[in-house]
Amino acid sequence: MNIALVTGSAGLIGAAAVRLFAEKGYRVVGVDNDMRAYFFGAEASTDWAREKLEQEIPNYIHRKIDIRDQLAVEKLFKEFSSDIKVIIHTAAQPSHDWAAKEPFTDFTVNANGTLNLLEMTRLHCPAATFIFTSTNKVYGDTPNYLPLVELETRWEVKPGERYAEHGIDETMSIDQCKHSLFGASKVAADILVQEYGRYFEMKTAIFRCGCLTGPGHSGAMLHGFLAYLMKCAITGDQYNVFGYKAKQVRDNIHSYDLVNCFYHFCQAPRIAEVYNMGGSRSSNCSMLEAIALCEKITGKKMNYSYADSNRSGDHIWWISDVRKFRSHYPDWEYQYSLTDTLNQIHDELCERSRAPKKVANQ
Ligand SMILES: NC(=O)c1ccc[n+]([C@@H]2O[C@H](COP(=O)([O-])OP(=O)(O)OC[C@H]3O[C@@H](n4cnc5c(N)ncnc54)[C@H](O)[C@@H]3O)[C@@H](O)[C@H]2O)c1
Repeated sequence: MNIALVTGSAGLIGAAAVRLFAEKGYRVVGVDNDMRAYFFGAEASTDWAREKLEQEIPNYIHRKIDIRDQLAVEKLFKEFSSDIKVIIHTAAQPSHDWAAKEPFTDFTVNANGTLNLLEMTRLHCPAATFIFTSTNKVYGDTPNYLPLVELETRWEVKPGERYAEHGIDETMSIDQCKHSLFGASKVAADILVQEYGRYFEMKTAIFRCGCLTGPGHSGAMLHGFLAYLMKCAITGDQYNVFGYKAKQVRDNIHSYDLVNCFYHFCQAPRIAEVYNMGGSRSSNCSMLEAIALCEKITGKKMNYSYADSNRSGDHIWWISDVRKFRSHYPDWEYQYSLTDTLNQIHDELCERSRAPKKVANQ
């Protein structure tokens, strides 16, 4: 049987990948040790998603392995060996701000963990396709030096300037800028994945993502922008906005639309490809616009504070140019608009809050 190995399988993107690849006929092996609860607290645990996958996906196999554990990862690859046809690597310490708290943890999860997976792929299933979820933070704060203009609710690149129409493409330099330690550990992993493609001719792809979102996110203050914003909109908890007059712009892609890119790539894999991927011009918002949308959906005023100082190295404006991916995979298309996604997040959060709370560590 063809196996899809998904790391971070209980996370937003991992769980969406498990569902899509199972639906497409793969037997899915998931790896997730719920480290998200360690990073962001019990409320951000993804264990609920692991439980759901085990209940809902026939033949789903879950392994609570830490991707830093070389021996455990090696044992897993030896077990399934060349039956593994695709590796979708989404497990990560995903927060820009958290990384500075524990640089060793951040780097070993993001960089060493990725190396473990790449090397085991090379040794045990070198013909498999290896997909890595990288980030737009590999471009560091370079986008902040674009010629920006202030509009009523958002920053924009000055019309007519490079990147204004379609967003930022893969040619922007990733060098000599401020990345945050998270950005640096992801750069290390991103380059490793490229190198296993170029040097060993393995079928590797790097998706440098804008904001990823969807009803499956376990939103926390430090990670999961729209999910956490909507959570605050529903509960009335205070949301804190940092800097840029709350006009910073993010593009947002639904988890399904991203994993559908992965599926298209697997159908016709290439070597060492790098793609910027996000909501692009189709789905993006500023902080003020996102707040207004949440207020419209919940019918309640949001409780938010504003501090003038921005998060160090935070992007003022990011929109992904996804035309390179589209040109390689013209059959791929977005399924979800920003409003669809926010409505889904809203409904799922209301549903989860009604579900009976489970006793810890059951
Ligand atoms: N969410 C975003 O906005 C965003 C943006 C750009 C890039 N990305 C990248 O996309 C990927 C997926 O993001 P997400 O939002 O689904 O994250 P997520 O936190 O929802 O999922 C990641 C999962 O990996 C697991 N994990 C973490 N460390 C692990 C370890 N050492 N061993 C095993 N499992 C571990 C976590 O428990 C979690 O369930 C990450 O690599 C992230 O850096 C995310």
